[in-house]
Amino acid sequence: MRHMLNPLDFSLEETDNLLELAADIEKDRSRYAHVCDGKKLATLFYEPSTRTRLSFESAMLNLGGSVLGFSSANSSSASKGESVSDTIRVISCYADICAMRHPKEGAPMVAASKSSIPVINAGDGGHQHPTQTLTDLMTIREYKKSFDGLKFCFIGDGNNMANSLIVGAVTMGMSCAIACPDDYKPDAEIMKWAEENGDFMCSSNILECAKDADVIYTDVWASMGQEEEKAEREKVFKNFQINDEVMSVAKNDAMVLHCLPAHREEEITAKVFEEHANEIFDEAENRLHAQKAVLVKLLG
Ligand code: CP
Ligand code: NVA
Repeated sequence: MRHMLNPLDFSLEETDNLLELAADIEKDRSRYAHVCDGKKLATLFYEPSTRTRLSFESAMLNLGGSVLGFSSANSSSASKGESVSDTIRVISCYADICAMRHPKEGAPMVAASKSSIPVINAGDGGHQHPTQTLTDLMTIREYKKSFDGLKFCFIGDGNNMANSLIVGAVTMGMSCAIACPDDYKPDAEIMKWAEENGDFMCSSNILECAKDADVIYTDVWASMGQEEEKAEREKVFKNFQINDEVMSVAKNDAMVLHCLPAHREEEITAKVFEEHANEIFDEAENRLHAQKAVLVKLLG
């Protein structure tokens, strides 16, 4: 039984196959309309979500399956102290696959160790967001046709998105530059892996990172669970913004991606956001196609 917990769980070849499958599903939706007939997806969301939960649910319904689940810890027995381990042992009796978002790093891995159904990490705190990254790779490939020779640049917090995107970009052979403040770097082990396995740099020099980039990506300055740090982070991240100056050093045809939700005039100006809204909302649409590929692959 396979889980999807960390982007590193999938080799280059497997990631490539998932991207092919996602693109095929997007092109020929009716061919996949019954591949999950009779299967049930449980969405176990201990944190808020619009895209991840609803794209998973829509994906399973489009594939012929059905969905059940909860959308906050408060509406589940987690609010009465039930552990992730006990929860997944119960859910394993009710569903065939589950997608879990949890504020604690590693919670989906704990679930997977007790589960008799595949577990998908739909975000585990500041650690990883692998399904968003799969979608991002799909969107880059859609627009740029190939990853060969591309430079990927992430500007902002060294958070869950940065961690997963480093793995995704390096796995697909893109050169990868992360621009972040010195005290907000991505996970040290992931950066070490990236240095050993690809063309990787992390610097607080935003323009150096963005220079000649083909893809510029950003995410919020304060992630879920960091609401109390918002004011302090606004000061630290003030310059870590996608704006006209950053776009002027990137390639002329550079694309801009954002996992959403976006805070205009913080991590990205409203002007750049609107100029690249087609790419950003295609990326959001691709959540649906990529989630279908993940469900089909893990349900085998
Ligand atoms: N991009 C993303 O994961 O969005 P949600 O938090 O709305 O799921
Ligand atoms: N870094 C953001 C990503 C949301 C999709 C967060 O964790 O809130």
